[in-house]
Amino acid sequence: MRYLLKGGEIVGKTILQKDILIEEGTIVKIDNDINDERATVIDCEGYHIAPGFVDMHMHLREPGFEHKETIKTGTLAAARGGYTTICPMPNTNPVMDSLEKIEAFMKKVETDACVNVIPYASITKDLKESQELVDMQALNKTVVGFTNDGVGVQKASLMYQAMQKANQIEAMIAAHCEDESLLFGGYVHQGLKSRQQGWESMTALPESIQVARDVLISEETDARYHVCHISTKEAIRIIRDAKQRGLKVTCEVTPHHLLLVNRDVEDENYKMNPPLRNMDDKYALIQALLDGTIDCIATDHAPHAEDEKSQGMKEAPFGIVGLETAFPLIYTNLVRTNMATLEQAIQWFSINPAKILNLNLSYLVEGRKADLTILDLKHKRLIDKNSFYSKGKNTPFDGWEAYGFPVLTMVKGKVVYHDQTFEC
Ligand code: DOR
Repeated sequence: MRYLLKGGEIVGKTILQKDILIEEGTIVKIDNDINDERATVIDCEGYHIAPGFVDMHMHLREPGFEHKETIKTGTLAAARGGYTTICPMPNTNPVMDSLEKIEAFMKKVETDACVNVIPYASITKDLKESQELVDMQALNKTVVGFTNDGVGVQKASLMYQAMQKANQIEAMIAAHCEDESLLFGGYVHQGLKSRQQGWESMTALPESIQVARDVLISEETDARYHVCHISTKEAIRIIRDAKQRGLKVTCEVTPHHLLLVNRDVEDENYKMNPPLRNMDDKYALIQALLDGTIDCIATDHAPHAEDEKSQGMKEAPFGIVGLETAFPLIYTNLVRTNMATLEQAIQWFSINPAKILNLNLSYLVEGRKADLTILDLKHKRLIDKNSFYSKGKNTPFDGWEAYGFPVLTMVKGKVVYHDQTFEC
């Protein structure tokens, strides 16, 4: 297919109005006024064109939990959210801990996925600390990194061994940081609301202690280390220090930790791990994103079925969906409010995660793979969980209004999503 995107504002290091010609999956020309009779023209006037978003932390749930999400529904949701590459976490059933399992998963991806999918493998077999490390060497070419996401690695010696190996083979360890000995049964962050409601709560320590430990291990082993869904000001302080000292440390933040706090928690759709923290943490996260301490935004898209989520605060599983709301929420609340620029948002959603994962997918330039999304920044729309393509409707943002919804998503030069319709 040959496409001509006419009159759009291309978001790169700056914003420029130019036409884009796409042929056989590649951007072949970017110029002021391109005409090509053989191309299908897409009128982009009034819209912005961005490099496709890369979600380096999300859950597809397949295999094993197809009642929550499947490769098909999760990638449809991704395309609708402007994502062209997603990296699912290995806490499936079976856990993604061997090449055979990952190859079987990738076979299904070939037939079912609407966007690029590059998975993580777990650090330990079956995500269990009593088990051995996965064969990281055998898996390294097929996965973006290794993580036991969903649970923290409790034993420092295990993390040390994993990072030693990661450094030898130039792999990345992505860590869900949570010291279980410091949870004391807590499932929300402590504060007035948890006291009023009688919810068991936790401090920032389960996260910050493991971030500190892991940064030290990363310094000792020289391993590439990425902190998943960072949420506390103490962890930010540690990462800022690590970066100033030149360590190979990166981190991501979720839209919900940037926009909500513990006192907003109303029901199970506000329950996630790590939990919503307090106002100081939220401002520290925003500041850290703006000054580059936090590298990128990831959704931690965690779909669950409605009956699972409605079991009460204590029993409900952790997690909320995010693919179909992430960019509009950040655009509306950080860019339209003039805290950040659109160019910065595109770095957080596209450029920086691709860089961390070595995906060779930077700004939209001639010769680049045509993975892109077209954004409507002008019109306000309602977030309606019932319109989600994800099977998960578990969001605290239902009923919010936002700008910046993707209207078209293209993967390798193919239109996979266009105004509520799919072609994949
Ligand atoms: O809220 C969360 N949900 N946090 C995690 O770390 C795991 C995830 C899930 O798998 O549901």
